[in-house]
Amino acid sequence: MPKIKYIEYSGQEHEIDVAVGLTVMEGARDNAIPGIEADCGGACACSTCHVYVDEAWVDRLPAKDDMEIDMLDFAHEPDPQKSRLTCQLKVTEAFDGLIVRMPERQI
Ligand code: FES
Repeated sequence: MPKIKYIEYSGQEHEIDVAVGLTVMEGARDNAIPGIEADCGGACACSTCHVYVDEAWVDRLPAKDDMEIDMLDFAHEPDPQKSRLTCQLKVTEAFDGLIVRMPERQI
C-alpha cells in the first residue's frame, strides 16, 4: 500500500498507508489527521483540503484540471506550483513516498 507523509503546519508528521483508489484527502480523513478539513466531502467545491506537495512531487502527480485550478483560487495562500486539492488526487501505487504539507489554515 502506498505510504503518504502528511506534515501539519506545526511540523507534526504522520506517515500513513493509504489504499489505492482512495484520495489523498480520504487518507487524511480516515486517519483523523488534522489540517485537512474537506468541508464539501470531496466534490471540489470548498478548497479546504488544500496542501502543498513536496517540490520533488510537483511534476510526478497527475495534472490539475480546470475545476481544481479554479477552486485553488479560494485556498489560503495558494502556491502556483505546489498547491493541490487532496480530494482531486486519487492514490495509485505511484504515490508511494508522497509528501504533503498542510497550510497554516484552510481558508
Ligand atoms: Fe472540498 Fe476538496 S474536499 S474541495
